[in-house]
Amino acid sequence: MIETQSKTTKVTSFKMMTRKMQQLMYLSLLCILASTQLSHTLAAQLDQSPAKLEQNPCMNKATCHECIQTQNCGWCMKADYGDRPRCFLNTPKPEICPEEFIYNPDTSESIRINKALTWDSSGAAAMSGGGQYISGGSYESSASRQSSSSGSYSASGSSSSYGSSSSSSSGFSANLGSQSAFAAAAAGEIVQIKPQRVSLKLRINEVHNLDVSYSQAVDYPVDLYYLMDLSKSMEDDKEKLSALGDKLSETMKGITSNFRLGFGSFVDKVLMPYVSTIPKNLEEPCPKCDAPYGYRNIMGLSTDTYRFSTEVKQAAVSGNLDAPEGGFDAIMQAIACRQQVGWREQARRLLVFSTDAGFHYAGDGKLGGVITPNDGECHLNGEGMYTHSIIQDYPSISQINQKVKQNAINIIFAVTQNQYSVYQKLSGHIEGSSSAILSNDSSNVVDLVREEYSKISSTVEMKDNATGDVKITYYSSCLSNGPLTKTNKCSGLKVGDKVTFTANITVTKCPTDPKLWKQVIQIYPVGINESMIIDLEMLCSCPCEHPGSIGYEKHSTSCSKSGTLMCGICECDDLHFGNTCECSMSDVHLNNGNNNMCRQGNNTNAADCNGRGSCVCGACECKKRSNPEEIISGKYCECENFSCERNKNLLCSGPDHGICECNRCVCKPGWTGSSCDCQTSKDTCMPPNGGEICSGHGTCECGVCKCKSTDDGRYSGKYCDKCPTCSGRCHELKDCVQCQMYHTGELKNGDDCAKNCTTFTPVGVEKVKIDEDKDEQLCVFFDEDDCKFTFKYSEVGELVVHAQEEKECPPKVFMLGIVLGVIAAIVLVGLAILLLWKLLTTIHDRREFARFEKERMNAKWDTGENPIYKQATSTFKNPIYAGK
Ligand SMILES: *[C@@H]1O[C@H](CO)[C@@H](O)[C@H](O)[C@H]1NC(C)=O
Ligand SMILES: *[C@@H]1O[C@H](CO)[C@@H](O)[C@H](O)[C@H]1NC(C)=O
Ligand SMILES: *[C@@H]1O[C@H](CO)[C@@H](O)[C@H](O)[C@H]1NC(C)=O
Ligand SMILES: *[C@@H]1O[C@H](CO)[C@@H](O)[C@H](O)[C@H]1NC(C)=O
Ligand SMILES: *[C@@H]1O[C@H](CO)[C@@H](O)[C@H](O)[C@H]1NC(C)=O
Ligand SMILES: *[C@@H]1O[C@H](CO)[C@@H](O)[C@H](O)[C@H]1NC(C)=O
Ligand SMILES: *[C@@H]1O[C@H](CO)[C@@H](O)[C@H](O)[C@H]1NC(C)=O
Repeated sequence: MIETQSKTTKVTSFKMMTRKMQQLMYLSLLCILASTQLSHTLAAQLDQSPAKLEQNPCMNKATCHECIQTQNCGWCMKADYGDRPRCFLNTPKPEICPEEFIYNPDTSESIRINKALTWDSSGAAAMSGGGQYISGGSYESSASRQSSSSGSYSASGSSSSYGSSSSSSSGFSANLGSQSAFAAAAAGEIVQIKPQRVSLKLRINEVHNLDVSYSQAVDYPVDLYYLMDLSKSMEDDKEKLSALGDKLSETMKGITSNFRLGFGSFVDKVLMPYVSTIPKNLEEPCPKCDAPYGYRNIMGLSTDTYRFSTEVKQAAVSGNLDAPEGGFDAIMQAIACRQQVGWREQARRLLVFSTDAGFHYAGDGKLGGVITPNDGECHLNGEGMYTHSIIQDYPSISQINQKVKQNAINIIFAVTQNQYSVYQKLSGHIEGSSSAILSNDSSNVVDLVREEYSKISSTVEMKDNATGDVKITYYSSCLSNGPLTKTNKCSGLKVGDKVTFTANITVTKCPTDPKLWKQVIQIYPVGINESMIIDLEMLCSCPCEHPGSIGYEKHSTSCSKSGTLMCGICECDDLHFGNTCECSMSDVHLNNGNNNMCRQGNNTNAADCNGRGSCVCGACECKKRSNPEEIISGKYCECENFSCERNKNLLCSGPDHGICECNRCVCKPGWTGSSCDCQTSKDTCMPPNGGEICSGHGTCECGVCKCKSTDDGRYSGKYCDKCPTCSGRCHELKDCVQCQMYHTGELKNGDDCAKNCTTFTPVGVEKVKIDEDKDEQLCVFFDEDDCKFTFKYSEVGELVVHAQEEKECPPKVFMLGIVLGVIAAIVLVGLAILLLWKLLTTIHDRREFARFEKERMNAKWDTGENPIYKQATSTFKNPIYAGK
């Protein structure tokens, strides 16, 4: 530091420059200091943080249900358990809490119904059933497995000893399982998803993985309902469809032998402005047209597929006014009227919706004065006509979507090119639907249906109806053997391919409504009426908190007969309180508003008495320390007299300096500071030979001078009396050096020099050189004659000054000569410029004049010529004449 300093001084002899540089140096030094300090504190904080993270989440959980709602925590319900926290992270030793008193349920899963898949490529058993359907043989194999979770005691062990709820529920579902399996066996049921019913007990925030397998059965029944827009523009489509009807049913029969086909048609509500209501038009809206109608189920789903062509051919087209049609009414009825349309329970249900126009939806009914919302029910009369067409509004997209979900229908929108983009967007909002382009005369309908069907049947998408706090995510590797990826959809499946989805089920928190702690959740493949039912029970409360189980005792002796013992803790009646309800309301003067008198403020998370004492009838009894010198005190045990700041490992710098009271040092007179390590007296800051505190260049802190940095430089030394870098020191010495060495300057008169300059006598040297090791400073000044004089001083102990013997004076300059010379030069230059300008203008003028003269000469010929004047003689030239 000093080294650089002196170098700087050497190089720049001008004071201002030196000062600036010095300031810069200090600034950078400060920066370095500050940054090292910062990194120290950072490092210190980093050291601390892991300790904070490792905090035990179970501590402070005061009740059993709060405890088991926290991940990995268990509860000890032993009655006389002392002050130990009952909610633990690490299982306590059996002698502290015997196993039978521990409630630490694990997430558990038990499979209630597990019928084999009808078509399982991996299992030969399914095939050996002989036919396509196998009656569930293994339905009652209710396998129960324990998920590997951190707790060490099994849930089944503890739950069997407390409460009958779990065992009764399992008995119930087992019953249910055998019943449905029996029914299934009778009906020759097809099974495409496995398992079918699972009971789950889930701890909060613990991820549970559940495997669901799906495999598409061979020859799975297919129901295809063809819903057709029969407005006039679709006439040619109708012709084509009736021609293709046989081909369509043959194609579908090639896919499955179990195929049914149905047909329905729609126009629109018979109201203005959808349909013309002029009486003549109502009967025959267009030539050879039927009267308009809303929707009509012409042919329910039937195996008699050859009837289809006839029915389509016979169906008459009708006419309407506006472009969008009432297709939504028709979709709603076709789905809702399960009986009339004849949807089978177990079948892939396809609804082909073909149109060449847009659709009306909820709200459009207002145009025709229909405001009653659609109720989603079936309203067909005996002839299959929709009766509520002009009573109820069109359904909304979400109503349709909901119905589609409930009934596992796959809608195929077969629409013309110009409508495709609209219906494509619509299919994005309806589960399991797709859209395809129908040629304008429906000639490609067979290919379209076949392609869409294979698209639908070759993908499987898992959905569920979990809501709120239950989160389900799906992982699957689909057909590859690779790692699981997060997806609920697999495509490219062929019949018999088995895919397994892993559903991660988590309950993020317990719902506030205890009714929701038991839920039924359905996981289903989109478009198939089969599902896996999960009977989910969230482990949100402890059995010992409910009457009738061990650990629950009313008017317990452990609770002074004034409360209920629940899971080892007392729930006191209204008139008592205290850990064992030993305190009566009448005993204690209550301070209003603060329910818990052993907790400071409203902090419900804090432990009673800050965890350093026990609450006895509303007052804290603080713990005793093993060292009798160490005392915990205060209303909430918030004070300690052993945890104050230490200095040199002495509490409050030792008893001479201060004592520790309530986590804070109280200093003895004469001492101050957070650890009483500072003297209040400023005597030690006084320079020994008198003067101001810290020589006026600093403040006295803690008995030690803190020197300031000023513009002049930075003061140092015990009393801030030194300032090696201050340029001011050079100034102080300057006059004396000047008068003593050169007999010039302010002190040159009389005996001023002898009087004022007593501290030192400069030593003359030929050339001043700085010896950096000796902390010497260089001073350079110019005196009134502009002569440069240089001296150096060092203040190590004695002030020693070395000055250059000879001043360096600039050679004398003849000022008048310079001034005159400059004036002359300016005048000369001015004259020269003047002359140049004159010359240039003269040349220019000459040229101009010459040109003018020339033009005047040239202009002579036309003087006086009158443009109107015509000469009396005209001269003609004969261009052909070549002679002279
Ligand atoms: C789905 O199948 C079940 C029986 O397996 C049946 O009770 C239910 O009605 C079916 N749902 C639909 C929408 O067909
Ligand atoms: C149907 O489409 C063909 C071309 O694909 C076109 O030539 C024909 O005019 C269209 N017919 C109607 C009625 O739009
Ligand atoms: C879900 O389960 C899979 C398969 O066990 C596992 O790899 C994945 O980490 C789980 N995801 C979460 C969020 O726990
Ligand atoms: C899920 O669907 C099943 C069967 O339809 C139903 O019983 C259950 O209540 C539904 N669960 C939720 C959370 O909606
Ligand atoms: C405690 O809460 C009540 C109301 O919730 C509030 O009025 C009071 O100021 C709070 N006291 C403290 C110490 O935070
Ligand atoms: C704490 O206080 C007690 C009683 O006031 C006293 O005897 C003891 O010396 C104190 N301890 C310390 C470390 O100051
Ligand atoms: C010299 O010293 C006398 C008294 O010590 C003081 O009055 C005077 O101002 C000083 N002269 C200069 C130029 O500092």
